[in-house]
Amino acid sequence: MGKIKVALLGFGTVGSGVYEIIQSYQERLDILLGKRVEVSGVLIHDEKKERNINPEILVTSDINQILAIPDLDVVIEAIVGVEPGYTYLSKAIDKGCHIITANKELFAHKGRELKQRASENNVRVSYEASVAGGIPIIGTLRQLLKVNSVVQIEAILNGTSNFILSDIRNTQSSFQDALQSAQDKGYAEADPSNDIDGHDAFYKIVILSELLFGQQPDWESITRKGIRDIALNHISLAESFGFRIKHVASLTYKNKNLKVEVGPKVVSEDHPLYSVEGVDNAIALTGNLVGQLKLQGPGAGKFPTASAIIEDFVTVINGEQQSDPLKGGTLTSISEDSTQTWFVIGNSDDPFEGVTLFEESISDQGKHVTARLIKTNRSELERLTLKNSDLVVYPVASSSSLPIRKAVVTA
Ligand code: HSE
Repeated sequence: MGKIKVALLGFGTVGSGVYEIIQSYQERLDILLGKRVEVSGVLIHDEKKERNINPEILVTSDINQILAIPDLDVVIEAIVGVEPGYTYLSKAIDKGCHIITANKELFAHKGRELKQRASENNVRVSYEASVAGGIPIIGTLRQLLKVNSVVQIEAILNGTSNFILSDIRNTQSSFQDALQSAQDKGYAEADPSNDIDGHDAFYKIVILSELLFGQQPDWESITRKGIRDIALNHISLAESFGFRIKHVASLTYKNKNLKVEVGPKVVSEDHPLYSVEGVDNAIALTGNLVGQLKLQGPGAGKFPTASAIIEDFVTVINGEQQSDPLKGGTLTSISEDSTQTWFVIGNSDDPFEGVTLFEESISDQGKHVTARLIKTNRSELERLTLKNSDLVVYPVASSSSLPIRKAVVTA
């Protein structure tokens, strides 16, 4: 039986998961590929650290030693940051290796260049694990929705943020304790600000934008917010309206305009993202032919992410067609100031241009606080919040039903 030689760049949570799957699923891979998969090299950062790797395998911190492995077929990258991964993968492509990456920051920044380089060198590039962990969203968009135009995505793309928001709501734990728990479970990035300030979800949604439309909106035009400022009482107030606060990455395509946003939103009970809890991610997407679909599953963690990589690996080796559906044409970023619905917490008597759909005065820690659903445009809302800095505002996710039910006023 022939061999497929693989190098792993990075041996953290994800890299070690891929290694373990390759060792444990040899027979299955033999059947699927007709060849024996051999891990020939592992690139690590700290040579002194103990690792459970077969001593016959080259383990090194020198990328040149990895790239010098004769007849290396595939390089799998699971390190963080744009560099050094971009340089390593570019060299691997030039050497004729197929590449697979789990690195969303790298792929958001340099995916187009890597795809171009791979095509010039007649090798394949796969990145399923870079978006939504174990959920096969890239494969679904690439392979199964080629004719549909995806007109909207609303998605939970950061497992850590979703875990933290669920944990705070379910256990009334503090933000710090919930974050610590996400780190202990291996969900959060080494620098958790990537998760809790929305960078991670931002990278993932722009990768989806690039995949669907062959382009990304100007990054400066994308609103990106994280979950740091969400207080427990906001979560409770939203709940009393029948809403949950979720960290949502969205993409809307309308009249050749593309709008991408990342930040907390409130979702109603019948919204597809309402029931997505813990480390799960979910993508609610609307195709012009199929209507709305939801894909849900673990968005982070060792084996879910390694699962996405090993499935990519089989697809890459079997040479299945993976052309991206470039549906773009000329896109612009939507800058129009259209009316939308907002969940507004705080006491303000200022008149505003718009409609109050629902208003309740709710007892919050002994104080009466007004929470409202209002329909107005963003600029009017900005005017209101500038005038009254106590107001806290969450957009209502697009497919949420309004109003849900009357809020319960507690004494
Ligand atoms: N830190 C990321 C998350 C890992 O929590 O979703 C998966 O990309």
